[in-house]
Amino acid sequence: MNPRNANSILFVVLQAQILIVLCAAQDFDFFYFVQQWPGSYCDTKQSCCYPTTGKPAADFGIHGLWPNNRNGSYPSNCNPNTPFDPSKISDLKRTMQSVWPTLACPSGDGTAFWSHEWEKHGTCSESTLPRQHDYFSAALNLKKQVDLLNILQNAGIEPNGNFYSLNSIKGAVTAASGFTPWIECNVDESGNGQLYQVYMCVDTSGFNFIGCPVFPKGRRCPSDIEFPSF
Ligand SMILES: *[C@@H]1O[C@H](CO)[C@@H](O)[C@H](O)[C@H]1NC(C)=O
Repeated sequence: MNPRNANSILFVVLQAQILIVLCAAQDFDFFYFVQQWPGSYCDTKQSCCYPTTGKPAADFGIHGLWPNNRNGSYPSNCNPNTPFDPSKISDLKRTMQSVWPTLACPSGDGTAFWSHEWEKHGTCSESTLPRQHDYFSAALNLKKQVDLLNILQNAGIEPNGNFYSLNSIKGAVTAASGFTPWIECNVDESGNGQLYQVYMCVDTSGFNFIGCPVFPKGRRCPSDIEFPSF
């Protein structure tokens, strides 16, 4: 083989490697950062259980940071070789108990919730947030950047069991954050739609809010929704 052919083979191999790296970096397109209102989680037929650490604050809590594709699909359970390891985030545990509380029954200290979030979603963003500590820290940082309850209260939207227009809720978050959220409702025992989860979009770095490339396909809210107390 002459040296020129050897060079071009090397070039092709290098290109293939670059392509593989690029593909690995693009295994998702953006994140949904999802926060939930505990009052609506609990105000259902199924109800809820407070964590073993006690009743959470009356504030939106983190549900998760979920990799998603532009076409609406999402990857899940991407790496069975990196199971959740609480010892890797022990320094974050107290903060997580306060802003990422579990409300599932039976009562827990949050470990089962965070483990589920890491294994289903976190393992799919290891290309940009390789360590468990990076992933959970990114979510905690996002929570600090957008104080949803404060934004809504500044717009006169209070968790007092009253009904508010979906548009006024979306409008308040859009005005304060610069980005239109997706609102997910659930229903109380009487069948009223209520403010359950707020989705905002984040770039693949996990640090910057962006306009949503696509909204979730979930259940739509009625035009007026309840904001229950907690
Ligand atoms: C959506 O995009 C992802 C990633 O690009 C791809 O793997 C998946 O097959 C696509 N799904 C559909 C339904 O097009």
